[in-house]
Amino acid sequence: MHDFKRGDARNYPAKPFVKQRIFHRLFAMYRICLFLCVVISCVTSQEAEEPISYTCTDGYTFDPVRQVCKDIDECALVPDACKGGMKCINHFGGYLCLPQNAQIFVSNGDEYTPTPAPVPVPAPRVPETRRFIHSQALTIQCSSGFVLDEQNYCRDIDECSTGRHTCTSDQVCFNTRGSYTCQCQPGFQKNGDQCVDRDECHQAHYCMHRCINTVGSYYCECNPGYKLASNNHSCIDVNECEGSNPCQHQCYNILGSFICQCDQGYELASDSRSCQDIDECSYSNFMCQYQCVNNPGGYGCTCPDGYQLQGSRICQDINECERGHDCREDEKCQNYHGGFRCYPRNPCQEPYVRTAENRCVCPSVTSVCQGLPTTIVYKYMSILSDHSVPADIFQIQATNMYHNTHNTFQIKAGNEDGEFYLRRSSNLSAMLVMTKPLSGPREHVVDLEMVTHNNVINYRSSSLLRLTIIIGPYAF
Ligand SMILES: *[C@@H]1O[C@H](CO)[C@@H](O)[C@H](O)[C@H]1NC(C)=O
Ligand SMILES: *[C@@H]1O[C@H](CO)[C@@H](O)[C@H](O)[C@H]1NC(C)=O
Repeated sequence: MHDFKRGDARNYPAKPFVKQRIFHRLFAMYRICLFLCVVISCVTSQEAEEPISYTCTDGYTFDPVRQVCKDIDECALVPDACKGGMKCINHFGGYLCLPQNAQIFVSNGDEYTPTPAPVPVPAPRVPETRRFIHSQALTIQCSSGFVLDEQNYCRDIDECSTGRHTCTSDQVCFNTRGSYTCQCQPGFQKNGDQCVDRDECHQAHYCMHRCINTVGSYYCECNPGYKLASNNHSCIDVNECEGSNPCQHQCYNILGSFICQCDQGYELASDSRSCQDIDECSYSNFMCQYQCVNNPGGYGCTCPDGYQLQGSRICQDINECERGHDCREDEKCQNYHGGFRCYPRNPCQEPYVRTAENRCVCPSVTSVCQGLPTTIVYKYMSILSDHSVPADIFQIQATNMYHNTHNTFQIKAGNEDGEFYLRRSSNLSAMLVMTKPLSGPREHVVDLEMVTHNNVINYRSSSLLRLTIIIGPYAF
């Protein structure tokens, strides 16, 4: 409030009618008091002839012509008497700064409306409505949303905390100046007065793979093999091979998945993770010459007794006769495919006598030898079981001792089932041909006779070749 010098004689504009009346009524008493005061003052200072001084209370100035204290219209006098766009209303002894939309009523019911009440607008925040008034004759009515407090300030009503709102329970009440708004919880949107779930997935979202809407929110999901990044939106590849290996053998990470591979000799099972042994033996009958033995991750070949593995699949006969055998001293060792046999070193039986290894001769001086082969020669050979036929297996050869001799060859014994025949290959030789496959293990003895004629000296001799054929148990 501005302070004015007392005795200011400036001329102020006339008051409105209503105000004038109030003035007169209110200050009738005051004038009486003032008059008494002046009289007393006159009396006490009469002898001094001092000039009379008049004092008006704040907001009034002395009108020397009318000899009264006159109200000062501060609204007209004081530039920017009210700040913040507030309306200045002059009043006795002061002025009011009121919101533009405030209305003033005097207690006798007369309305004091300098301007028509405009549409309510939120009152300025600071300062609240200041009031300078000396009487209770006026009441201030605040616009809707505001309430007058004890200091006669129009205070904003907090509708939200005072329960004077219409927001539903799923809405959030926000107080505004002069009013309030009902807003939906995050993730909800207004549908009329209702708050309904906002489907973030149908609107712009940033899920890399999949968006899952929930009531009031949403979340992102990733395809299998991916995991949600820390930003909860991106998907990053999971290295499944790290940590616990999901594969039984090798694991190879790929984008969004992984691949298992198995060590050699294993194949991936139907679960694509575990490895199962490959039965290489089932691939073919030719994996091994004799027997295939499957083992984890591979296979092996075995050979029967009497053989040893040569390389990985071939069975090679063991020559027991070279390696060590248990034939007796008077026996000779004869190796064959898959074993060995012991034959007597001296196969010659009476009346034959041994003249050389495997050769027995019947001494021609004895009559016992009449009609018997002069010599018997023992031969041993080994053939494989189920040998393909026909097969030349043994050649008998005569020694060409004399001219004009003629040799004939024949199978004397051991061909009862016709497994062999003898093919003459020259005057001095013949070939034993096997015509039926023989299955081992067995021993077959064939007697081959050679008869030599010499017509010139009338010589005839026969000799026998006793061929022992040992057929091994296998075809190898
Ligand atoms: C991702 O979601 C988790 C769990 O819901 C949360 O704790 C974290 O703060 C979120 N991170 C980001 C970046 O939003
Ligand atoms: C075989 O014997 C026959 C008669 O017996 C004879 O004519 C022929 O020349 C002999 N061949 C040989 C190669 O000795």
